[in-house]
Amino acid sequence: MSISSNIETAARYIREGKLVAFPTETVYGLGANALDPLAVAKIFELKERPSFDPLIIHIADLAWLEELVMGADERIFRLAEKFWPGPLTMVLPKSKRVPDIVTSGLSTVGIRMPANDYALGLIRACGCPVAAPSANKFGRISPTTAAHVKKQLPDVDYILDGGKTTVGIESTIIKLTEHGFQILRNGIITQEELEEVVPLDSHSEIEKLSAPGMMKSHYSPRKKLLIADSVSMKTDKSKAGLISFSGELENGNRKVIRVSEKGDLRDYAVNIFEAMHAFEDDDDIEIMIAEPVSETGIGKAIMDRLRKAEYNWRQI
Ligand code: TXA
Ligand code: MG
Repeated sequence: MSISSNIETAARYIREGKLVAFPTETVYGLGANALDPLAVAKIFELKERPSFDPLIIHIADLAWLEELVMGADERIFRLAEKFWPGPLTMVLPKSKRVPDIVTSGLSTVGIRMPANDYALGLIRACGCPVAAPSANKFGRISPTTAAHVKKQLPDVDYILDGGKTTVGIESTIIKLTEHGFQILRNGIITQEELEEVVPLDSHSEIEKLSAPGMMKSHYSPRKKLLIADSVSMKTDKSKAGLISFSGELENGNRKVIRVSEKGDLRDYAVNIFEAMHAFEDDDDIEIMIAEPVSETGIGKAIMDRLRKAEYNWRQI
């Protein structure tokens, strides 16, 4: 495995059917040629990801959208116009060109155009759409630096190092129905922003099968993580690492990582996974406590990540 910033080398690996971890604006992805089923199979293997959990395809050019999707309608282009390149994934009816392994046999495919020059350069240089989940072991903390990728996936063929990602949490995922859009995963593009372009579909239930990634536990650190509340506040803080947002809970903890200097939720998103990685790797810390935020706007995406990270630990 090598880590470098050479887009041409990374593109060669992708063309040869190998795996490349690369930065996007959200988190690092573990990429393969989306049209090569054998290459895509290696993603599931290296990530230890169950085959029922479909991958997102990354494109650099709208022409690919029409190749990969069946019956692209004008709403898609309006959304693309406003949010691409950017952290929005659209789940759309797939065309025959998309191998079944990418979509875990679903009739839909998730597509996005990332807003990161390394990612766009890589996709253009390899000349194919790139299927990529986040570059972590299945269920673990998402990576926002090349070092995070190396920690969890030391056997990846190549890591394209583009520095720390600028958004920090995964894309907002929407599904388009005949009535409008449904949110399958919250991100920094909020429901309110999307509603300026397409109406929210509040008629139909979100099909369970349409969102296999909506599991309760995810982003799970190897050390206990609790969202700060009356219970977590009674734990022994001499070995606690606090992920702090407002500054109000900082007293008494062994260590504190303040995720924002000015109380901006976007900073919380940028730093949330990095803070979890730092405490996970810190021998002084036995338990992490994360400060909750109110569940509006970007706060929904933050609380989604914290709840899933906490889920297994709350059961113990
Ligand atoms: O920001 C992101 O979206 C990052 C970067 C690398 O692009 N990617 C990412 O991929 O977060 P992943 O695989 O970690 O999460 C994608 C989620 C999964 O939970 C998967 O179940 C869901 O998207 N998904 C993919 N295709 C889908 C489909 N056709 N229908 C419903 N859900 C889908
Ligand atoms: Mg992921």
